[in-house]
Amino acid sequence: MDDRMKAHRGDRGAPHATGTEQLSGYRVGPLDATTWPAFARLVEKHNGIWGGCWCTWFHTMAAEKTRTYEGNRDLKERLVSEGGAHAALVFQGDDAVGWCQYGSPRELPNIYHRKEYLAGMTHEPDYRITCFFVDRGHRHRGVAGLALAGALDLIAKAGGGLVEAYPQEAPAKKASGSLLYSCTRATFERAGFSYDRPKGLKHCVMHKVVGAAP
Ligand SMILES: CC(C)(COP(=O)(O)OP(=O)(O)OC[C@H]1O[C@@H](n2cnc3c(N)ncnc32)[C@H](O)[C@@H]1OP(=O)(O)O)[C@@H](O)C(=O)NCCC(=O)NCCS
Repeated sequence: MDDRMKAHRGDRGAPHATGTEQLSGYRVGPLDATTWPAFARLVEKHNGIWGGCWCTWFHTMAAEKTRTYEGNRDLKERLVSEGGAHAALVFQGDDAVGWCQYGSPRELPNIYHRKEYLAGMTHEPDYRITCFFVDRGHRHRGVAGLALAGALDLIAKAGGGLVEAYPQEAPAKKASGSLLYSCTRATFERAGFSYDRPKGLKHCVMHKVVGAAP
């Protein structure tokens, strides 16, 4: 029985084992109103991410977006203050240096390759993992993997469920970092995800059932 079937039958998986203590010098915490300033500093340092996305692309369908730096910033801040945007933030000291965005399909309705994705979907996940970002000065050290472990911990604390991700299959050794916004299949495999099906030319759908934190 695969993970999806277990979830379908109400088996919520084993209690989630934390993996966030593995990278020294870093800690993980949730994106919320108290950590918004640190998140905003990281985004501003990188010119709004993709020229001003502010990590809003997955929150809204294309027709609902203003597509301006300020509009996206205000949208993200409002969603965070209302509890409608979730991410695990990786910190070094007081500075946020990376994130892994997660949330329910209602919170993150936008998705690439939608038609193909819906055609292969048997049932909706409880959570999606949609976007990663790591400060340019902290890349290639495992920070994205740490952010993923942090997101799974936060999902476990919220009661767990079926978690879905859409990583790249096998990027070239020196791919452009911006194309790896959903990280790699290998990173998700290390975190215990199972391959489900292809999505687009280079991405795939993966699943993991996360148990509730004890
Ligand atoms: C992709 C990204 C998150 C990786 O962060 P990182 O902390 O350097 O990643 P890690 O060290 O945890 O490595 C994770 C995997 O990515 C691979 N990787 C990271 N950067 C890579 C690159 N430029 N080319 C190829 N592979 C890369 C690592 O080799 C590792 O691969 P593996 O899972 O097969 O072992 C980072 O480069 C980034 O933030 N890029 C910009 C993404 C973006 O624009 N996001 C915003 C969208 S709104």
